[in-house]
Amino acid sequence: MIEDKTIEWIRQGNFGHSRMIDQTVIPYEYKKIDIKTTDEMYNAIKTMIVRGAPAIGIAGAHGVVLAAIEEKDNSNFNSFKAAIQKKAQYIQSSRPTAVNLKWAIDKQLEILDNFNNIDETISNLIENAIKLENEDIEINKKIGDFGSEIIPKGAGILTHCNAGRLATVGYGTALGVIRSAYKKDNTIKVFADETRPRGQGARLTTYELTLDNIDTTLITDGMGAYFMKQGKIDVVVVGADRIALNGDSANKIGTYMVAIAAKYHNIPFYIAAPKSTIDPDIKTGDEIVIELRGKQEVTIVNDKPVCTDKVNVINPSFDVTPNELIAGIITEYGIFKPSEIQKLFD
Ligand code: MRU
Repeated sequence: MIEDKTIEWIRQGNFGHSRMIDQTVIPYEYKKIDIKTTDEMYNAIKTMIVRGAPAIGIAGAHGVVLAAIEEKDNSNFNSFKAAIQKKAQYIQSSRPTAVNLKWAIDKQLEILDNFNNIDETISNLIENAIKLENEDIEINKKIGDFGSEIIPKGAGILTHCNAGRLATVGYGTALGVIRSAYKKDNTIKVFADETRPRGQGARLTTYELTLDNIDTTLITDGMGAYFMKQGKIDVVVVGADRIALNGDSANKIGTYMVAIAAKYHNIPFYIAAPKSTIDPDIKTGDEIVIELRGKQEVTIVNDKPVCTDKVNVINPSFDVTPNELIAGIITEYGIFKPSEIQKLFD
């Protein structure tokens, strides 16, 4: 079992830096990287050294602290504040779909309005970043506890991408549900989609779950419907990167296809995500910006091309599952039907 936080603030004197598990090298290597500047943080998020909506949120919160430290010698508080806001916008532009990035950056920027002294502001930004880290783990445990109720005894559970401890500070959302269910019933079986093109399911989900001794079978992205038809899958649980107020949910590309297959086979499809993944500013999934990533993620495998360079390639990183395919959204406040999540903002 990995006990380390996926991402954490390391205090050094009055300041410090961010430290994160490098997710690009798992499962070949387990190493951590220290991030000391806003440019380094932008690159860490963009290149997916840190990934997964809640973990990216914390990276954004740390990014604001780094911006404040970089700007600490500003001659007055207003120029200090303006410089941080600009750098925060830059960090936020690194990945557009996961709303947790904006959510956590906004939480940090609110602090700038409460102080007018630079040293005091930096110390409060650090405290708040650490508070958000710790709250993330607690929230995921609550999601796990609520979610474990919907896992039948001995269930086969399909998951897509990695919504585990590596996608959060610890414990995980969808994999948090699986972890909590496993504590009650160690006969559950997980089917993990490999999740092309970046293989978060193959590289990260199977790594995490097997370390916890949870029975895990790796399947390719096209195999889900086959195993559903065979009766091997009783429930689907995945994470989310942004949820609209009507419950439409963006998650890793391929999730929509899994949800359609689940509906056809009468298998309940659940989203597990914290309230911070719900975007109160958008009514439907049509408003969610889908990140387009580089073509090489699709065309190059193990440093070798898998196709001719004459072919067109497009690489959307997420898709949106419409609310009618979702049986429930598991949050730290309980399980809601997609049509009910608006209540969380009343
Ligand atoms: O591109 P990624 O790896 O950041 O995408 C992550 C996902 O789609 C996860 O399923 C989602 O963030 C939920 S994480 C708890």
